[in-house]
Amino acid sequence: MSDEPGRLTRLYGTPAHRAASEALAGWMSAAGMSVERDAVGNVIGRLEGERPDAPPLMLGSHFDSVRDAGRWDGTLGVLAAIAVVERLQAAGRHLAVPLEVVAFADEEGIRFGTAFLGSAVLSGRFDPAELERVDADGVSLGDAIRAYGGDPTSLDAAARPAGAYVEVHIEQGPSLDESGVALGVVTAIAGQTRAVLRFSGAAGHAGTVPMELRHDPLSAAAEVVLATEAQARETPPLVATVGRLVVEPGASNVIPGFAELSLDVRHPDDAARAAAVGRLRERAKHAGHARGVRVEWEELLDQPAVACDAALSERMVRAVEGAGLPPMRLASGAGHDAAVMAAIAPVALLFVRCAGGVSHHPDESVAAADVALAVDALARFVEDFAP
Ligand code: GLV
Ligand code: MN
Ligand code: MN
Repeated sequence: MSDEPGRLTRLYGTPAHRAASEALAGWMSAAGMSVERDAVGNVIGRLEGERPDAPPLMLGSHFDSVRDAGRWDGTLGVLAAIAVVERLQAAGRHLAVPLEVVAFADEEGIRFGTAFLGSAVLSGRFDPAELERVDADGVSLGDAIRAYGGDPTSLDAAARPAGAYVEVHIEQGPSLDESGVALGVVTAIAGQTRAVLRFSGAAGHAGTVPMELRHDPLSAAAEVVLATEAQARETPPLVATVGRLVVEPGASNVIPGFAELSLDVRHPDDAARAAAVGRLRERAKHAGHARGVRVEWEELLDQPAVACDAALSERMVRAVEGAGLPPMRLASGAGHDAAVMAAIAPVALLFVRCAGGVSHHPDESVAAADVALAVDALARFVEDFAP
């Protein structure tokens, strides 16, 4: 289910995204769950437990994607959770506490530039100021939520309690593949900053405006792109990326008048990330100043690093061993809904090996046998779960 023919792009609130949410709701319902869509479009399946008032054990991941995405980032975790419910039902197993499977509507944040919209709403951490954000067509997030059948005025009422949150996800990096191990239990998730930088200069004729009279915003932006790369190379394990660059008016014989770039900065240590962001901010200021270019820095996300819950993760390690695998532990450089859910519940995250660590790319792939092991480990974890 894709917004673009020939490649997978499934952004929040689009027809393809809607079709995916309906398919997921159908599969949850077929697995015996009651299903609801919350005010932002998260799809939530629920299986009652012996103690219906107890906070649920929540399993989940997201079903939006990046542009030209792979097929497993997010979706694998939702489908693995539904498979576990099917397995419980087939075995006639009843849990002490309710089990909820959450398919988060937006984690990647591609359409509105931010991230973790679904888990922010569900965990009660959503900032209503975000409703003013607009997409590339000028549609506000509030209007997009409304058009999607949700209700932007009642997002705070969509917050739900969770006794624990557990997510299966492809690793998106090479550690498991290099170690020859199918599954790994995550210890911590790196923090990330996302920002958009806007450079406003003066457009002009490429053949007549002398170099010393130019106010070229693209040259200032280019300096920041290279400074971003240099900063990360010089201070590992910092990683920093400019993934989007817009140049206007965008003609070969016109000096640009405006440039905009996206910035993504990540580090396991929040203070180190903040320091790197501070240095890049200074660099952007100077790059603009030297050329008489105005620079605006808008921060979109400041997601702290998060440690997974030690006790819950040890249970997951035992479930992995029960599935016949060694107790591999690793850190996550990618962001996950679990990082946001950690604000309201203990979280555990189970990684599945992906070939060559390739992700956010159509070549992303997992082996069916590894997925079967992940479903087995998650089912063991759930069956043994007693809060
Ligand atoms: C989510 O995929 C992220 O950008 O880490
Ligand atoms: Mn992703
Ligand atoms: Mn993901």
